[in-house]
Amino acid sequence: MSIHFDPQTQCFSLHTRSSTYQFQVDRFGYLLHLYYGRRSEGCMDWLLTYADRGFSGNPGPAGDERSYSLDALPQEFPFQGSGDCRSPLLVVRDGKGIFGCDLRYTGHEIQKGKYSLPSLPAVYTENNSEADTLRVFLEDRRLGLRVTLLYGVLEDEEIITRSVLLANIGTQELCVEKLQSACLDFLHGCFDLISFSGRHAMERHPDRKKLRFGSFSVESRRGYSSHQYNPFVILCDHTATETAGRCWAMQFVWSGGFSAEAEVDQYGQTRLQMGLSEWQFSYPLTPGSSLIGPEVIISFSAEGLEKLSHQFHHCLRKHICRGPWRDRIRPVLLNSWEASYLDFTGESLLKLAEQARSLGIEMLVMDDGWFGARSDDCRALGDWNVNEQKLGMSLSALVCKIKAMGLKFGIWMEPEMISEDSDLYRAHPDWAFVIPGKEPVRSRNQLVLDLSRREIRDWLFHAICSVLEQGQIDYLKWDLNRSILDVYSATAADQGKVLYDYMLGLYELLDRICQRYPELLIEGCSGGGGRFDAGMLYYSPQIWCSDNTDAIDRILIQNGSSYGYPVSCMGSHVSACPNHQTGRSVPMKTRADVAMCGTFGYELDLAKLSAEEKASVREQISEFHRTAQLIQNGRFYRLSDPEADFCGAWEFCSEDAGEARITAVLLEKHGNMTPVYVVPRALTPGSVYRDRDSGVLYPADALMEFGLPLPQNLNQYDSQVWCLEKTETA
Ligand code: GLA
Repeated sequence: MSIHFDPQTQCFSLHTRSSTYQFQVDRFGYLLHLYYGRRSEGCMDWLLTYADRGFSGNPGPAGDERSYSLDALPQEFPFQGSGDCRSPLLVVRDGKGIFGCDLRYTGHEIQKGKYSLPSLPAVYTENNSEADTLRVFLEDRRLGLRVTLLYGVLEDEEIITRSVLLANIGTQELCVEKLQSACLDFLHGCFDLISFSGRHAMERHPDRKKLRFGSFSVESRRGYSSHQYNPFVILCDHTATETAGRCWAMQFVWSGGFSAEAEVDQYGQTRLQMGLSEWQFSYPLTPGSSLIGPEVIISFSAEGLEKLSHQFHHCLRKHICRGPWRDRIRPVLLNSWEASYLDFTGESLLKLAEQARSLGIEMLVMDDGWFGARSDDCRALGDWNVNEQKLGMSLSALVCKIKAMGLKFGIWMEPEMISEDSDLYRAHPDWAFVIPGKEPVRSRNQLVLDLSRREIRDWLFHAICSVLEQGQIDYLKWDLNRSILDVYSATAADQGKVLYDYMLGLYELLDRICQRYPELLIEGCSGGGGRFDAGMLYYSPQIWCSDNTDAIDRILIQNGSSYGYPVSCMGSHVSACPNHQTGRSVPMKTRADVAMCGTFGYELDLAKLSAEEKASVREQISEFHRTAQLIQNGRFYRLSDPEADFCGAWEFCSEDAGEARITAVLLEKHGNMTPVYVVPRALTPGSVYRDRDSGVLYPADALMEFGLPLPQNLNQYDSQVWCLEKTETA
């Protein structure tokens, strides 16, 4: 059992293979966080110090004991009302609107297997032996509030999950003003925080800063996890690197607004926390009702960022992604968006499909533009009926013809949205989030459907099914192209719960689709990578990484994404040059080498390719097939910092280090260029590797010491790939 409770010391110890997480019930029934670091035994309450801390309050049960203050002690679930004036995880008001709670330990349960969360995505395991669960019960008798802290421990994965369940077991209505799911209190240390900032078409840029007194937070107030911030943050030693130093990370299994905050207090102690955004959140908890704080995945590495990333990659790949596509190599697809945008017919798609087939592409995806009066992006969202006039044929005829070519077929939808110029809006104006009497805030000319309402979800479910059932459709691109603003639900008793309920509604809808079509491959999307989070990965094992398909920008975007997410989930395509977003021209080989470091596909008009380019597409697809297993299942290493170095370089290495693939792109070229070296990782010391293409033999130790020089004749934006295979020959 990875979870241990010592009745003597009242300590809970949660062990993974190489870490220990520990907290204690103290003599007043408060939970004190003691430790999260390298694996260790015994109760670590000797770490705590007690002194009279001026102007730090002493909670009631401590009487006149001035050296006991929750304002200074590290806590497991800090709540407003305890005298701790640092940022709390929970703020509750009672029926009279009075703030302040007082939660004490009442008991706990330890169980084999990982808990699940009703109606929410969460880490799962295939059998009970892979994880253990701890439930710790706290109660505030005055409020009639019961709090259950949930912990899941996946010992072999180095993963601990946390979630919290609030239940009103009293007689008065309560209101939850803030709910965070996890926090880590550190007694001392000099830390950096790495968060991932961005914008549309330039997502997940690692932003590392030294923490100082006060707090730093990132928060999505957009109703979705957002392009601007990502629900994944890392706290690390100021000196931590890819391969050394302690680092801790939190990842939210939630696709709505969130907040992550790091606070350094008056004594230099650091608190890291993550949970729901407080923005437009004020959740009424009526007697008998409950509320779940979504799951946070946490992990620790004493050996730098690389190991931390591996822990998240494996956890997401095996314990968040689900369904048959979790472990399958995804089909090489051709998406119609950058090929023809909204301007296509059934015939033009068939021509594209024919070309695609002849080059070895496996699936055609019909993107936006096939439904209602969707002649531009001002209209028709919500009218999910096929525009047969535009297509010149029915959807089933189109699908049949594409299937007859031996291709799979995929389709784009943006189910959560509604255009004002649509039959759906004309019939149900109250289905959109619009505040009565206020001009709505529009974005991409569209409004958001109120998914907190069951009847709207039911309608959507049938609308989606009636599309998917017009042929054997293999893939659905599920898009969301605006922030969720102007939150007003025409039927909600309280508007402070709508954003949260919206997200539950979305998950319920996605779950119904997954259950009805278990073979359907869903690719998440939100104007590219605006909803790139573990919550969506529970329903869609891949997410379109960015609307920016420029290979050079993609190196930055995919590199930033790789800190918390596996490459197997990063939608990545070869597009035309000059690139439609940046105007940059990059060699075809580079575009393919970068797109191959993700779920591989194309998004361009194949008819415009030269014979030579077509031949290279054929070759790229066979190369992808040769290497797909390694890319999807191998370990991923960042070999450079593409924001600072002359090159972007990544390695995929098989678990047994039998083979490694290194992709490098020269980002800057200068006169009389200083040689650039790429230093591989994780090869087997003492062995020899053969370069598959050149046949050159390399001793692993020297490779890992000084690396491989990029060929001097590479031009800016050229790429170089080395495929190394371990040999027996010395
Ligand atoms: C979003 C997506 C694109 C494309 C368009 C269609 O921007 O990210 O890939 O599907 O919508 O409108």
